[in-house]
Amino acid sequence: MLTTRKEQIQENAEVAEHIRGSYWITTFGCQMNKADSERMAGILESMGYIEASAELHADLVLFNTCTIRDNAEQKVYSYLGRQALRKHSHPHLKLIVAGCVAQQEGESLLRRVPELDLVMGPQHANRLETLLQQVDNGQQVIATEENHILEDLTTARRDSKICAWVNVIYGCNERCTYCVVPSVRGKEQSRSKEAIREEIEQLVSSGYKEITLLGQNIDAYGRDLPGRTIKGSFKNSLTDLLYFIHDVEGLERIRFATSHPRYFTERLIQACSDLSKVCEHFHIPVQSGNNEILNSMARGYSVERYKRIIDKIKKLMPESAITSDVIVGFPGETDSQFKNTLSLVKEIGFDQVNTAAYSPRPNTPAAKWTNQVSEDVKVKRLKLINQTVEETAKERNARYLNQALEILAEGINPKDSKQLMGRTRTNRLTFFDAIGPNNQIYKSGDLVKVQINKIRSFSLTGTPII
Ligand code: SAH
Ligand code: SF4
Ligand code: F3S
Repeated sequence: MLTTRKEQIQENAEVAEHIRGSYWITTFGCQMNKADSERMAGILESMGYIEASAELHADLVLFNTCTIRDNAEQKVYSYLGRQALRKHSHPHLKLIVAGCVAQQEGESLLRRVPELDLVMGPQHANRLETLLQQVDNGQQVIATEENHILEDLTTARRDSKICAWVNVIYGCNERCTYCVVPSVRGKEQSRSKEAIREEIEQLVSSGYKEITLLGQNIDAYGRDLPGRTIKGSFKNSLTDLLYFIHDVEGLERIRFATSHPRYFTERLIQACSDLSKVCEHFHIPVQSGNNEILNSMARGYSVERYKRIIDKIKKLMPESAITSDVIVGFPGETDSQFKNTLSLVKEIGFDQVNTAAYSPRPNTPAAKWTNQVSEDVKVKRLKLINQTVEETAKERNARYLNQALEILAEGINPKDSKQLMGRTRTNRLTFFDAIGPNNQIYKSGDLVKVQINKIRSFSLTGTPII
């Protein structure tokens, strides 16, 4: 009999008392944090911990945190308060803060929440076992020093059985004037092509069909590896990596995120078009549609360069979905500069855009500038940009109607067990009947041709066809 995930967690929780204990991880922030959490869950399970049925029942609670904007950081403190209280009645509870807030706040986090056992920055995720041993010896541990990230030999506890993240480059060497990431994630560290390929081969041999190569600036991959040629191009670029992994047998789809316009070369676009497994979805944050603002953000490209990249992608891969990130209310942004961003969003016609009001962050240059935009102007601009994004996304979405698309089935639709769910190559969530023409039954991992007959803002529905 098949057990549901809920039943499995319950069962796990019941045996947990006899094992090491149970754990609970809550993840905030980006895909990098999600991937780190999967690795830390893998380490905990290899140590004998078992997933708890709920946060309030767990013997070990880990918050993997994000500090990209102030509201992300504040969320963590409210979660932490609850667990710190619980520790007074459950002294055996282990309380851990990992990720970017841990890195940023370090020791001051311990002063603020003395109940914490462990504060560990993102570069220490793979060292969780060693750090917990120190905690078991009765220490309160802080691990935030600059660290060379070691290859992790334990198996990540992955949420999906079909799609997997693969870390390719850690850290960020840019200095965008608004951003905390370089100070919390450290310098760029690229993994070797061989180690990446080996991980992908292992994943594919255990049934994975799709991988997403991950990096804060994925297209900066390889800059720190040997192999730079005289002309400044390198043998270890993301383009080379794509060619290097493309023929892994059984691998169906390759994605990568996040791309920085500064490193998105023509060669990379050509490779994406030539290599059939590379999916036509590109997440390329533009941040602003005005060159002066881009300049004061220190982004290192112009609106014109950005548009050239998109034009080239659309020319070679007309079906591509392009998504982006935009910040409104950056210090000094005038109404007309903001309008440039609005027009760019319309002109490009993004499939989706993550929008945010500028949030001043500790130890970043822009936070200290005196030309800050008032909160109510930021809120107004955010509302306007969101309306525009909604309109363009809707227009882009409309093109899927009646199209026959390839969907990689990832699992059962939790709201309708007669349906499977998966994604288009352009990364649209799609639901379809699990039984196809000729009564064939589809399962997770299958590539299915689906005729789209219903479109919603964030998903599609269709029926399988031959
Ligand atoms: N490395 C990627 C983005 C990483 S951070 C890039 O350079 O494009 C994810 C997004 O958070 C950014 O694209 C930006 O839009 C947003 N962001 C970062 N710092 C911010 C801040 N201080 N205020 C508001 N949004 C911010
Ligand atoms: Fe932040 Fe800029 Fe690095 Fe992206 S490239 S993570 S926005 S500093
Ligand atoms: Fe947040 Fe850290 Fe990612 S600050 S966005 S979790 S790199």
